Amino acid sequence: MKIIYPGSFDPLTLGHIDLIKRLAKMYDEVIVAVLINDNKNSLFTLEEREEIIKEEIEAENLTNVSIKSFDGLLVNFAKKEDVKLIARGLRQVTDYEYEKNIAMFNAELYEGLETIFLLSNPKYSFISSSGVREVIRFKGDVSTFVSSNVKKKIEENFYK
Ligand code: PNS
Repeated sequence: MKIIYPGSFDPLTLGHIDLIKRLAKMYDEVIVAVLINDNKNSLFTLEEREEIIKEEIEAENLTNVSIKSFDGLLVNFAKKEDVKLIARGLRQVTDYEYEKNIAMFNAELYEGLETIFLLSNPKYSFISSSGVREVIRFKGDVSTFVSSNVKKKIEENFYK
């Protein structure tokens, strides 16, 4: 069984990595789908975000995980990939309220599409990419939010 794990991953956090590893154990194939968010003020470019995920996947030796990018509606990407399973992480109840609606929109747009929710690891349940971006803006210590590789990239790019 194949599952799509979509997101902006700007930047990839420890919470994302934990979810990818758990999904890789549960499903035959995991497609990490990176949103091409041109209109959003991204910290990292699409290429950089993809590269970071690739390095992390290789470091963890996750051979059944691939990385793809998508633009526009997620359901169109899912149709193209012929996959009817989407995974999203839930950190808090506010995530559930937001994600439930998106899942319903997606199910309406693509009949038979299911969204699977995984509870985030409590250790990481407060970590968000937007929170990490705020820490980066003020050159704070990101060690406990992202991997050492991502931290290195952040410092090289933004802490000079
Ligand atoms: O990491 P994020 O930013 O929480 O990921 C959100 C993402 C990329 C999964 C979501 O915004 C998305 O699927 N965007 C594509 C547009 C779409 O299909 N929206 C849902 C229908 S309303």
